[in-house]
Amino acid sequence: MTGIICGTGSYAPSYVMDNNEIATMVETSDEWIKERTGVATRHIIKDETTVSMACEAAKRALDDGGVRAEEVELIIVSTISSNIILPCTACEVQKELGAVNATCFDMSAACSGFVLAYNTALAYLSGGVYRTALIIGSESLSNLTNWKDRGTCILFGDGAGAAVMRAGEGRVYLPVTHSDGAKGKALTCLSRHTSIAAERMTDPEYYMQMDGQAVFKFAVKKVPEVISEVLTKNHVEKEEITWYIMHQANSRIVEGVAKRLDEPIEKFPMNLQEYGNTSSASIAILLDEMKRDGRLKSGQKIVIAGFGAGLTWGAAVMEWI
Ligand code: COA
Repeated sequence: MTGIICGTGSYAPSYVMDNNEIATMVETSDEWIKERTGVATRHIIKDETTVSMACEAAKRALDDGGVRAEEVELIIVSTISSNIILPCTACEVQKELGAVNATCFDMSAACSGFVLAYNTALAYLSGGVYRTALIIGSESLSNLTNWKDRGTCILFGDGAGAAVMRAGEGRVYLPVTHSDGAKGKALTCLSRHTSIAAERMTDPEYYMQMDGQAVFKFAVKKVPEVISEVLTKNHVEKEEITWYIMHQANSRIVEGVAKRLDEPIEKFPMNLQEYGNTSSASIAILLDEMKRDGRLKSGQKIVIAGFGAGLTWGAAVMEWI
């Protein structure tokens, strides 16, 4: 028994912020941002919330998979930017969908979140604990972004992606994941839900702060390593892989990973041009786009790979059904 993705969905806020708009807030340019990151636009919430985007992406995934809400036995939402702490975002999704039979919890693993949600659901489904799971990445990173910091505000965006997974016959590919808490300082954000004085809430440490170069170097080194590790562990040759669906952080990171793996860049789809970095939503949004436009075909082997704050990183192999 394994876990098989049978439906995908995504949601992006209708408001689109381009690089020129960012250049009105900080000293930067469309040209610099495109050249150093690949990002041209990002979707930013206006009326949406992390919860509402998660619900919409989830509904679309259920529709796509032809799965009824009552069949869902597990809902995992990966997020670092929910508008609510209690109840958890996954319980709000359950309520909205009427997924009355689901066990629900949130997961916080930043940009590795969707890979970890997938792995968790896979373990439950392949172990026979549940038969149907819904995994969602939903982020309102614009709320955690310091719009005065040009080293970070150019990168991030908002959105949500979801996938429905069913237990079914097939091979279980074992994932590989790693964490290195000792290097956590590279990307931080203090919680605003503490007893700090109101006037300190706008201090930079209550927004995402990043050592961009350290994160860049970490990603370009560790992601190819973990992809090689997951392929070796599962006795899969890289020639068998049709797509490497990576967390969408920076086109130069994706290109660096392709180069180190000695794989053609065409195997590394990107949509970060439009969305920027949507953390745990990015892989799910890209999967959904690729499913809808027909790039994902039955029998293809796919690698998903995430990396980010923690530091955390990991990869999983799956066969598209
Ligand atoms: N616009 C214009 N100039 C900028 C700028 C911006 N938005 N941000 C930085 N610069 C300047 C710097 O001040 C520096 O100027 P100096 O040489 O006069 O000191 C110069 O550009 C180079 O800065 P540097 O930080 O070396 O740029 P970089 O090539 O490393 O690009 C990032 C910065 C953030 C784009 C890049 O490091 C990156 O993408 N890192 C990974 C981040 C990431 O993906 N995080 C999430 C992981 S999940």
